Amino acid sequence: MLESVPTTYDLSEAIPRRASPVRLDDPPPYPISPRPPAAPSVLPKRRPAKTGKLRLRRRRATSRGHRTGRTQSTQEVREDFDRIAGLSREGGWDHNSHYHPLLLRQLPLRLHEALEVGCGTGAFVRSLAGRSERVLAVDLSPRMVEVARARSKGYTNVEYAVADANSWPFPEGRFDCVASITALHHLPLAPTLRKMGDALRPGGPLLVLDLYKARSPADYLVGALGFPASKAIRLARTGAMSGPRQPPELRRAWEEHYATDRFPTLAEVREACAEAGLRGARVRRRLLWRYSLVWRKPMR
Ligand SMILES: C[S@@+](CC[C@H](N)C(=O)[O-])C[C@H]1O[C@@H](n2cnc3c(N)ncnc32)[C@H](O)[C@@H]1O
Repeated sequence: MLESVPTTYDLSEAIPRRASPVRLDDPPPYPISPRPPAAPSVLPKRRPAKTGKLRLRRRRATSRGHRTGRTQSTQEVREDFDRIAGLSREGGWDHNSHYHPLLLRQLPLRLHEALEVGCGTGAFVRSLAGRSERVLAVDLSPRMVEVARARSKGYTNVEYAVADANSWPFPEGRFDCVASITALHHLPLAPTLRKMGDALRPGGPLLVLDLYKARSPADYLVGALGFPASKAIRLARTGAMSGPRQPPELRRAWEEHYATDRFPTLAEVREACAEAGLRGARVRRRLLWRYSLVWRKPMR
């Protein structure tokens, strides 16, 4: 949820469209959380170790790389990403950033305002910032937002906010682009897609990249091809077949998080698009275990 502490913004004024150059002291017409207090100097405590059956189930699920069937509460998701944020390293090629250019190709050359939901440390936000007069990025995890801000120094047209997309009041008809990368599987799919679509201006693209659950033979085949493809692409992009070694604590944090992650099948994504009223949405299976969703809001 957005923090209800008074903000330094005067929310009574709306910024003029196509104002140039954009001044970030213009008040944004959406609610913004103030910067969270400085982070504690120690990392957030790990959740207490699970005992009994759940612990066993989590460990089995982790070692198989499968899901336990138990979904996480929003509080647990926030804790996981606070922990991951404190350990994450900057930059480099990964399976998400590989698809940034594909998403950016869906955009016009210049945008007025863009929104990213679940921005994490802000890698895609910074790409959007190069094309937009203003970018608003929201994330559930205060530590993620803190790291994103630190990595976005010098990006004067970016505003980060700590907000739970479940309850954040998406402004309607506001943005020239609304994007989300590997965050939607934490949210109820159809209702969130609907809110993201409603937040767009006519003609604006909704861009989603996320993981999916393999169900069909084609999913498994493409998923299997993803392993050699990932090695080959990484080699071409970075000169090495594997990424830098992750610190054990970061690897453990991701493993424990993945153990409870649940992903929709591609059929479920298409059903959610229909339910959200995104007629003509293009959902594509991608080689590196992800799907892309592109929808353009009709002009009228
Ligand atoms: C796997 S990370 C992806 C981050 C970023 N988009 C990227 O591509 O690196 C998922 C992000 O979604 C955020 N998230 C999860 N649930 C959320 C919610 N209910 N509202 C806002 N953000 C959420 C997490 O805090 C996390 O930063």
